Amino acid sequence: MKVLVVGNGAREHAIATALSRSSDKPDLYAFMSAVNPGIARLVKNYGIGNICSPEQVVKYAVENGIHLAVVGPEAPLEAGVVDSLEENRIPCVGPRRKPAQIETDKSFCRNLMRKNKVKGCPKFGIFEDVKDACDYIDKIGVDIVIKPAGLTGGKGVKVMGEHFDKKGAKGYVKEVLDTRMGVIPKVILEERLIGEEFTLQAFVDGRNVVGMPAVQDHKRAYEGDVGPNTGGMGSYSDAGYLLPFISKKDYDDGLSIMKETITVIKKETGEEYKGFLYGQFMATKDGVKVIEFNARLGDPEAMNVLSLLESDMTDVCRKIAAGSLDDKVKFSGKATVCKYMVPEGYPDKPLNNVEVNVDEKKINALGGQVYYASVREENGRILTSKSRAIAVLGLSGTISEAEKVVEESMKHISGKLFYRKDIGTKKLIEKRIKHMKQIRGK
Ligand code: GLY
Repeated sequence: MKVLVVGNGAREHAIATALSRSSDKPDLYAFMSAVNPGIARLVKNYGIGNICSPEQVVKYAVENGIHLAVVGPEAPLEAGVVDSLEENRIPCVGPRRKPAQIETDKSFCRNLMRKNKVKGCPKFGIFEDVKDACDYIDKIGVDIVIKPAGLTGGKGVKVMGEHFDKKGAKGYVKEVLDTRMGVIPKVILEERLIGEEFTLQAFVDGRNVVGMPAVQDHKRAYEGDVGPNTGGMGSYSDAGYLLPFISKKDYDDGLSIMKETITVIKKETGEEYKGFLYGQFMATKDGVKVIEFNARLGDPEAMNVLSLLESDMTDVCRKIAAGSLDDKVKFSGKATVCKYMVPEGYPDKPLNNVEVNVDEKKINALGGQVYYASVREENGRILTSKSRAIAVLGLSGTISEAEKVVEESMKHISGKLFYRKDIGTKKLIEKRIKHMKQIRGK
């Protein structure tokens, strides 16, 4: 069995690692835009090129006789890489272009939810005109979230009351529409949700949706949840499927919303959704609300859940592509903590080409696992780019123990880098629990 992984971030390193643990030892291949040293050593062969070019990915897959492809990031999904692979009879894990709009076009997502009365949809408006959008801000009378409709690499969403006041919000709406931020010339304005965020990811085979353990990501760059937004500085999951501040009902409601969404995607696009589905939810005083959906695994959340996966990943992927997924996907009942080392100055003024030294042997001996992200290997040296560099995952019986594994592991990575020490600590988790109790009045 020859399995191709498309993409070269830490999420794809985690996917390749999970596939490499499969009992029938598939031959792994990768198509990447730069050499990820972690992926390179797991695969039999890799190709370097434009991962968003359906022609290049198909050529590589056909030449190598690939039996199954797993597409990691959203940009190749939007570019129709899965559509082209399937047209060449290569089964895929990842949605085709139309169903992937659930992430790639936020106006598609909200219209779909409203039209089909999917639960958990906040109040929103979609605008192409600056004046109409500004009038809506005046009329709605509560803080809003401003989202460019298209993909912005996780950097486009801004929150009134957090990033700026009403005047600043109107200025940002103008910037989004005037500069066609995210390419699609629309902006979505939504009521700001108050609560605690959690991520629920699922395997989807077109009809069946199998949930994974819930995870909490940390978007802000600095300790104490302050500073600019990032792609995610780190994440944790608890022993079992829940988080310390969410109930079984929150989890079940989130999963049920994801199931409804899969059904209506098929109804509206005529195509089944296959692959990974990422639901970002807010647990509020009025129950679970949808912040957004992504058509892929999260980064860093993929590292948490795939490190816990006990079922055979190749088998799960084969079943996703074949439409024969069952509920028998097993995760270990342990807790995980994942933290990202990023270049100094990240995300606003990051250093570039920082040399990093990683003593993986020592980290592995401590029980830590290294996942490489935006780094490349050149003449035996590991160099960063301007983005998140290296994720370290700890897995143990409790969040607190897993956090200690990561802290000890971080001592064996050096370079002009920094990370958030507070992620997964007792102090931060207690703050989340207290916040949730305040919100729900318990
Ligand atoms: N961690 C956020 C994301 O993957 O979108």
